[in-house]
Amino acid sequence: MKIVVAGSLNLDLVGHAPRIPQAGETVLGSVLERSQGGKGGNQAVAAARLGAAVHFFGAVGRDAAGDELLAGLAAEGIDVAGVQRVAAPSGHALITVSAAGENAITVLPGANQAAPLPPAGALAGASWLLLQLEIPLATNLAWAQAARAAGVRVLLNAAPADTRARALLGAVDLLLVNEGELVLLGGDAAALGAPIVVTTLGARGCRAWRREGLLERPARAVQVVDTTGAGDTFAGALAAALAAGRDPGRALDEASAAAALACTQRGARAGMPGRAQLDAVLAD
Ligand code: RIB
Repeated sequence: MKIVVAGSLNLDLVGHAPRIPQAGETVLGSVLERSQGGKGGNQAVAAARLGAAVHFFGAVGRDAAGDELLAGLAAEGIDVAGVQRVAAPSGHALITVSAAGENAITVLPGANQAAPLPPAGALAGASWLLLQLEIPLATNLAWAQAARAAGVRVLLNAAPADTRARALLGAVDLLLVNEGELVLLGGDAAALGAPIVVTTLGARGCRAWRREGLLERPARAVQVVDTTGAGDTFAGALAAALAAGRDPGRALDEASAAAALACTQRGARAGMPGRAQLDAVLAD
């Protein structure tokens, strides 16, 4: 069950505050935390913790943050041979998390702008390619087309929201969006051209539109501490479940439960479950 992730790696600088400031406003917060993130890296970690063999392709700087980000992926058992060191600062994200667990994120892509095009053989033996929108669109397009040519299915998480994602949809097997991203892309899952469109609905669960019909799943009730990385956990867990041959309903259940668990701890990756934890929750 090999999964390839082409995407971003960021060092997250997280400030916790009572609420997220409005434009022009200053809010006094409490602690500053530093953790590994980036939508690509987060999704790779979520899939790897659930048992997928993950190969990551991206770029970091020749700096301490790059060392840390690479070591973080390697410690999860992810193959990082496809990560390039480039002459640009590693990606960073400035994140404010509110007392309600909601966040506002500014990404400074840096080295992620130099994420590699697909090298020959990169997709060999893979069942799914996982993409997001924190590397250049042209790079994502090249990966999606290479996957098509290699018979590898493509899961695009169209986040952060960007209307230019429409250019990719013709080469996508499964589009994953939240409600805001869906609206930005036109609002009608049936009209987007992807065979499957999964929409995450936060505390209301998730919905999958397929030509065969709609699948809906409620969210698990958890004590929300930090929603950062919940969408990434959903994406990685969904890819891992589909790569392992789970049926679509079970795959949604796994993704949904994993994303709920991710919200129970601070930081994008800390709450992502391993296989045993997720299986225990699903058996409840
Ligand atoms: O989805 C959460 C992630 O978005 C953070 O880890 C941050 O790095 C940004 O990429």
